[in-house]
Amino acid sequence: MNLFDIIYDGQAQYLQRAEEMVAKVVAEKGKETPVKFPATAYALPCIYAITGKKVTNVGELEEALELAKEKIHRTNYLQDALDAGTASAMLAEIIEAVKYVYEELPYEGRRVEDLNTADVRYLGHITDAEVRNFGVPLVTDDIPGVAVIIGEAKDAETLAGIVKDYQGKGLLTFMVGKVIDQAIEQKIKMGIDLRVIPLGYEIESVIHVVSVAIRASLIFGATPPGDFLAHRTYTKNRVKAFVNVFGPWDNKIIAAGAAAIELGFPAITETFINEVPTLLLHQPDNSKVVATSLEVRNIKIKVTEIDCPVSVSSAFEGERVRKDTMFAEFGGNKTECWELVTTGDVAEMEDHKITVVGPDIDDAMFEGKDVVRLPMGVVVKVGGKQMQKDFETVLERRIHYFTNYIEGAMHVGQRNIAWIRLTKEAFEKGFRLKHIGEVLYAKMRSDFDKVVDKCEVTIYTNAEDVKRLGEEMVKPIYAERDERMGALTDESVDEFYTCLLCQSFAPSHVCVVTPERLGLCGAVSWLDAKATKELDPMGPNQPIVKGEANDERLGTWDSVNAEVARTTQGAVEQVTLYSILEDPMTSCGCFECICGIMPEANGVIIVNREFPDTSPVGMTFGELASMTGGGVQTPGFMGHGRFLIGSKKFMSAEGGLSRIVWMPKELKDDVAERLNKAVKEMTGIENFADMVCDETIASDSEAVLEFLESKGHPALAMDPIM
Ligand code: SF4
Ligand code: NI
Ligand code: NI
Repeated sequence: MNLFDIIYDGQAQYLQRAEEMVAKVVAEKGKETPVKFPATAYALPCIYAITGKKVTNVGELEEALELAKEKIHRTNYLQDALDAGTASAMLAEIIEAVKYVYEELPYEGRRVEDLNTADVRYLGHITDAEVRNFGVPLVTDDIPGVAVIIGEAKDAETLAGIVKDYQGKGLLTFMVGKVIDQAIEQKIKMGIDLRVIPLGYEIESVIHVVSVAIRASLIFGATPPGDFLAHRTYTKNRVKAFVNVFGPWDNKIIAAGAAAIELGFPAITETFINEVPTLLLHQPDNSKVVATSLEVRNIKIKVTEIDCPVSVSSAFEGERVRKDTMFAEFGGNKTECWELVTTGDVAEMEDHKITVVGPDIDDAMFEGKDVVRLPMGVVVKVGGKQMQKDFETVLERRIHYFTNYIEGAMHVGQRNIAWIRLTKEAFEKGFRLKHIGEVLYAKMRSDFDKVVDKCEVTIYTNAEDVKRLGEEMVKPIYAERDERMGALTDESVDEFYTCLLCQSFAPSHVCVVTPERLGLCGAVSWLDAKATKELDPMGPNQPIVKGEANDERLGTWDSVNAEVARTTQGAVEQVTLYSILEDPMTSCGCFECICGIMPEANGVIIVNREFPDTSPVGMTFGELASMTGGGVQTPGFMGHGRFLIGSKKFMSAEGGLSRIVWMPKELKDDVAERLNKAVKEMTGIENFADMVCDETIASDSEAVLEFLESKGHPALAMDPIM
């Protein structure tokens, strides 16, 4: 068979299965039965993007079948073969969708937190919130690429080596087929948080990763559904994915490969195939497949040499250390634990000096103990000609990420509420406290090379030192910084900053970052932007010299509008910084929270990405989120960071923070302190957070209103919001 015949045959197999399954589900469930994947606002996303058709019930699956068939023309033209690939993708999505009609969770592992301890193994459909979670790491190149591994490798060790290699480089790896069993056998750490995602056993489940790429285009790119050419251009240019096929391929795999190629994702097979240069490659040597894959997709990995016995990779950032695997613990309310970055005098510093003062985790006194518990104080001293005091907090916050990158380490919190856990496995591999120092040293030097010429790390574990230094040295520094931060307002600075990072995924979006309004992803504060400008002068954060405001209430500046228009190529010409109704700032799609108007309450609700249920306006986070994004302005909806809840500039044009009537409880608790303080200062109201409704009180409109009335919520007495 030639390559085209292989693709057409594979496609015919999908068609047959899809027709059978649709006929069965029509007969058994009826045409009115709803069809949907969990927690997505984009129907069956691939079919929606390719054709513009939103499939919502079984009857429409029949229509989708017809739409797929329209793509099939068996000729000897390359485009027709690729179209057969696209048809295969649509058919695979239909097949998967039918599985979700019969069972709520056909992939049983779906809600299991830790795949490695559970008996179930596959994830299937990825939710919108999960796709959005990938947004920031993708734009920062923290996730430098996406690998899709299909089939069965020669042996499990080889497969494990390849997956670990991708994981160690921070890539996101999706697996389909027996490779999953091989990864389990080799005890690869898996799960969405560890960037190794087992999709499913059948080849059709590969559609769930295609769906991730397609939704990136719908969400961040605001690409119109139905304009498949635009979606293909988007995925080809912006989603750095590729496919590795191990073991003997079959025709269905190659038809799926044709779909991948059509989206711009090259496929590399282990077993011989007639190559198509740059698109379909044959790489029989397993030891070269990683290099070949990265090269063909032009993925460049920055390597930092670190003296550490375990892997250090952004892929391990989300790893949790539970009690049963824990070896040592610092902080977490049991012992004191703080961390600090300070600036030292370069002339007096000794680069790469790492000191542990006090007992290490292998100290004799811990023999026979269940868990090693120590206080910890970490001082990272940096020095350099370009270093500024203001950058200390920016670097200090990175301690959280860098420590989390360690395989077998978990870091929670910051400053003096830091909490660190280490696993038994890491200890057994030889990990000791000095390695925390090694990691911090190496990452500070490599990520902040422009401002850090020398770096020393000291780790204190003596209770006496940790306490004394904490009181005498650390707390006064925190206090001084807090004072400075508190004084930083939009009025007190001359410059705001743009953030263009998300333009790699959302080309017509720009964030305007001010002291009182951080980037909507929550990851970029005004100080971060300022530091980034210093580190990377031509980089994503550029100053806007703000000048006179046109309208202080709305927060409009000619300078801001001009910069927004320029950086979005005219897609957006006017934004206000303080209004949700008039020219609100746009979103890319990776916002932490979405705020929307609840007219009957004369206020707004806020939903965070982690909250799965329906809000009082009848929509979930995902549904609310789909109203905006991709650089589109949607009055009445605004994506923003958690930290904005507590800013006096939060939609201040419409009355500000006291308009908030509902938030999920977790979010409310998280922001309560700052929110209460700000509202008190603005209106005199005490404990405002207690007047804000949450899902544990009520989520339906009427009950929410009742609650607000019983509390005398200020929004009810304010001017009409619309
Ligand atoms: Fe993206 Fe805005 Fe965050 Fe920058 S600040 S990374 S543009 S969301
Ligand atoms: Ni970790
Ligand atoms: Ni973004």
